[in-house]
Amino acid sequence: MIDSKAVGRIIDKYDQTKLAIGTLGSHSSLNIFKGAKEEGFRTVCICKEKDVIMYQKYPLVDELIIVKDFTELLNEKLQEHLRNLNVVLIPHGSFTAYLSTEQLTDNLNVPMMGNRQLLHWEANRKSQEEWLRQAGLRLPATFQSPDDIDRLIIAKLQGAKGGRGYFLANSPKSFYKKADEMIKRGLITKEDIDKIHLQEYALGVNVYPSYFSSILNDDVELLAMDRRYESAVDSIGKIPAQEQLEIDVIPTYTVVGNFPIVLRESLLPEVMRMGEKVHKKARELAPPGIIGPFCLETVITDDLKIYCFEISARIVAGTNVGIGTSPYAYLRYGENMYMGRRIAMELKEAVKQKRLHEVVA
Ligand SMILES: Nc1ncnc2c1ncn2[C@@H]1O[C@H](COP(=O)(O)OP(=O)(O)O)[C@@H](O)[C@H]1O
Ligand SMILES: [Mg+2]
Repeated sequence: MIDSKAVGRIIDKYDQTKLAIGTLGSHSSLNIFKGAKEEGFRTVCICKEKDVIMYQKYPLVDELIIVKDFTELLNEKLQEHLRNLNVVLIPHGSFTAYLSTEQLTDNLNVPMMGNRQLLHWEANRKSQEEWLRQAGLRLPATFQSPDDIDRLIIAKLQGAKGGRGYFLANSPKSFYKKADEMIKRGLITKEDIDKIHLQEYALGVNVYPSYFSSILNDDVELLAMDRRYESAVDSIGKIPAQEQLEIDVIPTYTVVGNFPIVLRESLLPEVMRMGEKVHKKARELAPPGIIGPFCLETVITDDLKIYCFEISARIVAGTNVGIGTSPYAYLRYGENMYMGRRIAMELKEAVKQKRLHEVVA
């Protein structure tokens, strides 16, 4: 485990007047780099050849490092190069998609904005649920055994991304029947069933509020809100029910893009309190709590109850809808504020106050 002392030693050697913001070239990199440039930072992008076009069309990157695979980030030579460039890495979804939690906490000797300890709390559904529940959020009920199912549930595979292989059931009987079908169709394995997570299906609309936890100001800001455009689930409604039955559709949740959302104002106080509570709990679990961006995945039902089913303790791609300005960032900061820029602002302020070690890990 790379601890804060080790990271502290690295940034002590940094030329903080030449601090650079770096990240992997995908996910929310344009958001991050634009924000970094607007706050006057140099930018470093670790990128695959096929994606270089993005940074030619949007020239936001000062130093482009081409890799074959994002796992090259674990390469000591590359890390040394990044340290020589005084890079602070901004983790996003591709970090956890391509690297394991252990690799991120043990083998990445470059300062990251964020709290590495929380990666472990985020990594598996059980501990994540514990965190959110202890924070006092409303979570969908979970069921220990398929035999306990007494309402509509969503069955989730461990660590699956994009909902592939997830299915719905509303009784033990329908669960076993569906599970059998899924195994037969090769969509899941028998082992998946042993580790499957059974969660009450919250019927409502998805809302993803994004927050920024400022360690410097000791405050949690609500900065953006989005919903996802998911294939194939968002297109199922285009097919009449009759045909749906005939072709036997199984919904998947592959994110293709995001829409901005402006929430009914009466829901905002609770959404704000949820952010506060999650950070407060995180401070107990892994001081100093969440550093920088985080997002709650929620469903809001027709009786306006907000259910939270997941957390990302990092920038989410949904904040890309705010590049330029999101209404929530506008309310707080006026024009031209968004998550990527807010990150850079915090780093700039940390350098100014000589508190950089408090916002990196
Ligand atoms: N409890 C739930 N109730 C209703 N819909 C849910 C629930 N949990 C997940 N979903 C839907 O399934 C999708 C994928 O679930 P999620 O837990 O976010 O898995 P992943 O690890 O793939 O991100 C969500 O985006 C949401 O649309
Ligand atoms: Mg999710």
